[in-house]
Amino acid sequence: MPDTHPASAPSSSKLREVPPTAIIIFGASGDLTARKLIPALYNLNLDNLLPTDFYLFGFGRSSLPDSEFQQLNITHIKDFSRRLFNADKWSTVQSKTYYQTGSYETLSDFIILKEKIDALEKNIGKPIQLLFYLSTPPTVFKPTLENLGNSGLASRHLGTKLASKVIIEKPFGRDLGSAHDLNAIITHQFQENQVFRIDHYLGKETVQDLLILRFANSIFEPIWNLNYVNYVEITVAESLGVGKRGGYYDQSGALRDMIQNHIMQLLSLIAMEPPISTDPEDIRNEKVKLLKAIQPVKLAVDGGDVVRGQYEEGLIAGEKVPGYLQEADIYPNSYTETFVALKLLINNWRWNGVPFYVRSGKRMARRVSEIAIHFKYPHGSLFKEASKYDLIPNTLVIQIQPDEGSTLIINCKVPGLETRTQPIKMHFRYATTFGSETPEAYERLILDAMLHDNTLFIRSDEAETSWKLCTPILNFWQECKHHGLEKYTAGSWGPTTATELLWNDKHEWRKIDA
Ligand code: BG6
Repeated sequence: MPDTHPASAPSSSKLREVPPTAIIIFGASGDLTARKLIPALYNLNLDNLLPTDFYLFGFGRSSLPDSEFQQLNITHIKDFSRRLFNADKWSTVQSKTYYQTGSYETLSDFIILKEKIDALEKNIGKPIQLLFYLSTPPTVFKPTLENLGNSGLASRHLGTKLASKVIIEKPFGRDLGSAHDLNAIITHQFQENQVFRIDHYLGKETVQDLLILRFANSIFEPIWNLNYVNYVEITVAESLGVGKRGGYYDQSGALRDMIQNHIMQLLSLIAMEPPISTDPEDIRNEKVKLLKAIQPVKLAVDGGDVVRGQYEEGLIAGEKVPGYLQEADIYPNSYTETFVALKLLINNWRWNGVPFYVRSGKRMARRVSEIAIHFKYPHGSLFKEASKYDLIPNTLVIQIQPDEGSTLIINCKVPGLETRTQPIKMHFRYATTFGSETPEAYERLILDAMLHDNTLFIRSDEAETSWKLCTPILNFWQECKHHGLEKYTAGSWGPTTATELLWNDKHEWRKIDA
C-alpha cells in the first residue's frame, strides 16, 4: 500500500451548526463593537453561519431606542465590513436586534435584560444559548460579571450545550496579581468551559495555519529543534502610533498590549510539542507547558535580555508624525514603552540554548508581523573555497500579515558554466493560492464561541503563566522609570540596543524589506 495520497484528496473539515443564540454585547457603543463585532456578525450572516434563531442585544450606558442601535449598526457595517452592505440579507438580524440602556453596576438592569430574554424564549417556544460579550473597559468587568451571576443570567441551561458563555476582551489583567483576581471573579460566576478569553491573533488564518504547517506536514517536525534551528525571531511591528487610544495605552505599554498576549501566543504555537489530539484541552495543555518552560528574563539596565523604547517624531511613508510624548492623552513625562524586544530561552529538551528573539513596537518602519526560523549553517565547506560562493543558512519566514504566506530561503546554483551560488526565495502567498476573501479574526472567534469550541481562546492558566513571565519585567521598569528607556525615531526599526541584543549573540534581525 503506497503511503501517498492523490493531490486532490479532500481535507478534513467539520460541519458545525450553531444552536439558537442571543449575543449580548456589553459596551455596545464602543469602538470595538463598531469596528469589529458588528461587521463580524454581518459577515457571518452573509455566509449563512448564524442560526435562524439569532438575536442581538446591545447593552450600554447611552440611552438609545432599538431603532437607533439598529441604524448605528448599519453605519458600522458600511464603514468597516470587509464586504459591501446588503440590506436584504441583514434585515433578518436587524428585525431581531434590541438595545438596553443600563449601568454595569446595577443589578436591576440585568434583571430587566433577563426578563426580556425569558419573554423571547417563551415567544419562540425554545431555549436559546446566551453569549455575553464583555467589550467594556476592564474597570467594569467585575460588576458586570457579578451582576451576570446574581441575576441568574450566568447559570442558564447549565450543564447543557446551551449553557451561557462569556467572551472577555483584553486586557486580561495588568499583571499576575490582577489576572489572578480576575480569574477568581470569573470562575465564581462561570465554569471554566463557559469562559472565552479572546486574543484576536488566534483568529487570524495565518496563526491557525501554524499548527497545520507544523503537524500536517512531515518535513518540518524532524528539523524543528535545537539540532537544526539556530535562532527564531518573532516581529510584530506597526507603523501606526497610539492614535486616539493614548489614555489606555499610556497605562499599558507595549509589553502588556502586545507581548503578554499576542506574541506569547505566537511563541507557544511555534515552539510547543505536538498535542496528542486537536481537542482544545490537549492543545492548550501543550501551550501552557511551553510557556512554563520559558526561563525568567535576565533583567539589567545594561546587558539584560530586554530592551524598551519610546518613539520620537519622525517620518512614516514620507509624512511627519509626532513623537509619543506629543500624542493626545499622554502624560508629558511618560516612560511608557512603545517598543519592546526580548531574548527568551526555553528550558526543554527541544529548545535548550536556542534563543527566541521577539519584538513589537508602534511607529516602526512598516506594518509587518512575521516569524523567522533561522536554521544552522550548512555543514562542510564544499562550496566555500571562494568568498563569492558564500552560502547562507536557510530561513523559513512565516508572514502573519500583511501579504500573508510563507517563504523558504535556500541556496541555489546560478545558471552558467562556473559554480556560483545565490540565495533564492520559494514563496507561497495566500492571496495567489486562495484569493483574498479570508474571514476576519473576529468572525472565526465569535463563530467558535457560539459553537462552544474554545481551542482558539486563552485558558486561565495560560493567561497567568504568561503574566508570570512578564510581571517581573514590569516591576523592574517601574523601579527604573526613565532609566534604560531608549528613544527611537518614528519610522525606524526601533532602538539600536535592540540590534545589539542580537549582535551580542552574533545574530541579527532579518532585513524585512529584503
Ligand atoms: C491590539 C492592541 O490588541 O492589537 C493594539 O491593543 C494593536 O494596540 C492591535 O494595534 C494590533 O492588531 P492587528 O490585528 O492590527 O495586528
